[in-house]
Order: sequence, then structure tokens, then C-alpha cells
Amino acid sequence: MNARVALVTGGTGGIGTAICHHLHKQGLRVIAGYSHGGDSSHALEWLKEQAKAGYQFDIVYGDVSNFESCGEMLHEAETKVGPIDILVNNAGITRDATLRKMLAKDWDLVLRVNLDSVFNVSRHVINGMIERGFGRIINISSINGQKGQFGQTNYSAAKAGMYGFTKALAQEVASKGVTVNTVSPGYVATEMVKKMSPAVLEKVIAQIPVGRLAEPDEVARVVAFLAADEAGYITGANIAINGGQHMY
Ligand code: CAA
Ligand code: NAP
Repeated sequence: MNARVALVTGGTGGIGTAICHHLHKQGLRVIAGYSHGGDSSHALEWLKEQAKAGYQFDIVYGDVSNFESCGEMLHEAETKVGPIDILVNNAGITRDATLRKMLAKDWDLVLRVNLDSVFNVSRHVINGMIERGFGRIINISSINGQKGQFGQTNYSAAKAGMYGFTKALAQEVASKGVTVNTVSPGYVATEMVKKMSPAVLEKVIAQIPVGRLAEPDEVARVVAFLAADEAGYITGANIAINGGQHMY
């Protein structure tokens, strides 16, 4: 059988890169999505570094907040590599502010990039997965979608919305060999967390029973687990990876 094909949105970012590595180690052909405001130089540099480290990936451009752009991204991915068997909706951003200060544009952008994106990309792959009788959709949510976070009404709302999408779609496609799940990391050592003020971050780390940030690899191995053929009975589920910061 030909290797299955995976598309990881935000594939050149912190958690995305680790997910690409783990899926590659599992024998998949991996395509990393990027946007970077339309600038490909960062993604091309990333591709070179990955090749030096022994990882052969493909990259595709797509702004996940835009439905048409996602259509073009999927067309390019499927033409270059093949039909998408595994989709990891991983692209995401923060624009933190308390609601009393939040700008409408930052509410809108965070909802579009973190939540609309899940529709924008999944819609283009779902029929192919159903026709082929196999598919894995893994949505990267967040601990802050589960528990809410001071200064993140936009991000918490978007990440919480992913749970509803996941559980509804999981029911629609369960009988077709397609599973849909969320993974909810706690605070992970990537650029996203580095943007936080050190004083706020210190307070957050003090609330994590394991006593440290997660490493991207610790999230990626769970994604790879859910992507496997053998994970066909896990659907509509959420797996938390948060060092004990939120238990429910
Ligand atoms: N809890 C309770 N009160 C808080 C607070 C907190 N975490 N942070 C600030 N406050 C209080 C201040 O003491 C102050 O109180 P008074 O008005 O009584 O003096 C008030 O709130 C200040 O309000 P502001 O609107 O002025 O807030 P700010 O501009 O100082 O800070 C913020 C806003 C920058 C968003 C800050 O709250 C913050 O950094 N919050 C954490 C956001 C966070 O965790 N982001 C995670 C990013 S990474 C990620 O999201 C990945 C993932 O999925 C985990
Ligand atoms: P990161 O390193 O900043 O990566 C974010 C990725 O999202 C980047 O590769 C970026 O690609 C992509 N992206 C942003 N806007 C996009 C757009 N409009 N179109 C396409 N891609 C876009 O952050 P990360 O920590 O790896 O985050 C990955 C995911 O994990 C996010 O969904 C995040 O919310 C979630 N998460 C992170 C943490 C954490 O603590 N780090 C915790 C829980 C959940 P370009 O630069 O190419 O645009």
C-alpha cells in the first residue's frame, strides 16, 4: 500500500514541526501548510533545514482563515502529493487582551484563524475521505478552550468551538472510516508562549503540577497516535496534555 498522506496546517511552527516529525517517523508522507503573510522564504528555509535533518516534506501555501485560499492549498497538495488521508488542523494565533480593551479586529482574526479554519480546511478534504473510506482529522485546541483564560475571551471561545465541531462531525462520518478528535495542550514551549510577559508566564507555570512547560514532542506523539490506522475506534474524543493544570 502507498504511504498515507498527511497535511499539517501551521506545519512549520513549533508544535507543527514536531507533528510533522512524528508523522514522518510513522511512515507517512507529510505536507506542511504555511502562510506567513504570503512570504515563502521562511517556509523554504524550514524545508531546507528539515531535509538536512533527514526529513523529506512538501510545503503548501494557504491562509487558513480564507476558504478559497484553503481550496487552492488543497488542490496544490493533492496534485503534488496525493489525496489527504490525515488532516491536522494546527494553525493558530493569539491576540490577548481583556475584553474591556479587545479590538473587534482581534476578536475577528482569532476566531477566523483558530475556528473558521477548521471548517475552511476540513470542508475541502471530507468528501475524499468518505469516498476512500478512511480519514483522520485532528484538531489542535487548548487547555484555555476548556477552562477559559483571563485575557483570552477570543482564543478561549475559538478553541472551545472546536469541541462542538469535532463531536458533530465525528458523528457524521463515524460509519465511513473517518475519525475526528481534538487534542488540548496546556502551555507548550513555542513562539506563542514566548510572546507572553515573563511575569504572567511565571505565574502560569506555578499552577502546573508537573512544574514546567510541555515540549512540542509531547503533543506530537499524541497526534501521531490518533493518526494511526489502529486508532479507528477513537472518535469525538478530546485528549488533554497539560501537566495536570486542568483535570476534569
Ligand atoms: N488574573 C486575575 N487578574 C488579572 C490577571 C489574571 N491572570 N491579569 C491581570 N489581572 C488584573 C490586574 O491585576 C488588573 O487589576 P485592576 O484593574 O484591579 O488593577 C487588571 O486585571 C488589568 O486589566 P487589563 O485589562 O489592564 O489587563 P492587562 O492589559 O494588564 O493584561 C493580558 C491583559 C496581557 C491579557 C494579561 O492578562 C495576560 O497576559 N493574560 C494571560 C494570557 C495567557 O495566558 N495567554 C496565553 C498565551 S499562549 C496560548 O494561548 C497557548 C495555549 O493555548 C495555552
Ligand atoms: P506557533 O509556533 O506560533 O505556530 C503557529 C502556526 O500557525 C505557524 O506555523 C503559522 O504559520 C500558523 N498560522 C498562523 N496564522 C495562519 C494563517 N492565517 N494561515 C495559515 N497558517 C497560519 O505556535 P504553536 O505553539 O506551534 O501553535 C500551534 C497550535 O497549537 C495553535 O493552534 C495553538 O493555538 C495551539 N496551542 C498552542 C499551545 C502553546 O502553549 N504553544 C497550547 C495549546 C494549543 P505561518 O507563520 O506560516 O503563518
